[in-house]
Amino acid sequence: MAVITVLRMGDARLWEVSKPVTKFDSPELHSLLHDMRDTMQAMNGAGLAAPQIGVGLRVVIFGVQSNSRYPDADSVPETVLINPVITAVNDLTDEAWEGCLSVPGLRGVVERYSHIRYQGYDEYGALIDRTVSGFHARVVQHECDHLDGILYPMRIQDMTQFGYTAELFPDADIQDD
Ligand code: NI
Repeated sequence: MAVITVLRMGDARLWEVSKPVTKFDSPELHSLLHDMRDTMQAMNGAGLAAPQIGVGLRVVIFGVQSNSRYPDADSVPETVLINPVITAVNDLTDEAWEGCLSVPGLRGVVERYSHIRYQGYDEYGALIDRTVSGFHARVVQHECDHLDGILYPMRIQDMTQFGYTAELFPDADIQDD
């Protein structure tokens, strides 16, 4: 098991635009995904982007069954998404609290498209093409933002809706570190 230290906001590598993957089903790509899965699991994340472990490639993973960081979240299938393209289905948006393993202990309200289509590839080069909404759509938008050097605090419109999880939700049983 290779759990990699997740880079935290302030590390300049998180601001970089990541490069597309050009070779699928390679030992390097499988090894990267192994590390990403181990790291996401160890940190109890809903998703993880390769640049968060210092690898500047357009690779994200996500998936939620039950998660103590997001106790009320809908389930999202375990997915490897490479070279993703996101298209908003319409102009509808919604606001919800987000957290990020690179911004530990904090949450903020972010506006995202409610309905998106996302396309990309899995680690074997098979096409992925899904149209999703709600928390699933939010997770994908959040993770793919990492590939363009964007962290969710950069999208917060009302800074009073940004703070420490323990202060914002003192009565909730949210594990966040
Ligand atoms: Ni994140």
